[in-house]
Amino acid sequence: MPYSIALDGPAGTGKTTMAKLIADKLDFLYVDTGAMYRALAVYFLSSGTDTGDEKAMEEALRDVTVEIKHENGEQRVYVNGDDVTARLRTEEVSKMASVTSQYAAVRGKLLDLQRSLAIDNDVIMDGRDIGTVVLPNATIKFFLTAKPEVRALRRYNQLVEQGKLSGATLETIEAEIRERDYRDSHRKNAPLIKADDAIEVDTSELSLEEEINQIISLISERIN
Ligand code: DC
Repeated sequence: MPYSIALDGPAGTGKTTMAKLIADKLDFLYVDTGAMYRALAVYFLSSGTDTGDEKAMEEALRDVTVEIKHENGEQRVYVNGDDVTARLRTEEVSKMASVTSQYAAVRGKLLDLQRSLAIDNDVIMDGRDIGTVVLPNATIKFFLTAKPEVRALRRYNQLVEQGKLSGATLETIEAEIRERDYRDSHRKNAPLIKADDAIEVDTSELSLEEEINQIISLISERIN
């Protein structure tokens, strides 16, 4: 049976960077489940679906196909045949994904796709419910945490570096992060919680290199 690594935690804990590096080192497939929720958010935004109306959402989802392709080691997400990968990382899409991922119909749409990728491949999958719902029998599970103020500063520095701050301040970014954390961890369906058997890693005080070393050594104990 292929190996699977579940990597859960709130936004800004460095899951994506970590997962990509580990996937490279171990030659595992990296699966970014947040990108799938973001892709559906792009669809809801562009179709003007009333996201306050669960029935309207269910109807809209009937016409949607989401596909994942891995091209040159990068995951790309297609919605109804269109590559939407370049549109996933705006603040508008982040917010919409956090709101629409609360719905059972949205989660159900993506669950089979996520599980199917772990059937034939060694995977490292990051998200919010990988260890609890998507891959409850994962080979090893991690739950990354970091203080909200540390995550906000990381995000702020990233936006400055990319020249994409556009009016945001450290305070507004931290407020958004806290709001998203609250929504993600208090929703009824598949909330963000640590699986009982997940290893918690607080990344607040660790450098990326320290995090990677710690996680790789724990994985090596489990898969060798
Ligand atoms: O990891 P991310 O920031 O790209 O995720 C975007 C949103 O999708 C996030 O607010 C919560 C949601 N999400 C989820 O509900 N379950 C997952 N497995 C991954 C993401």
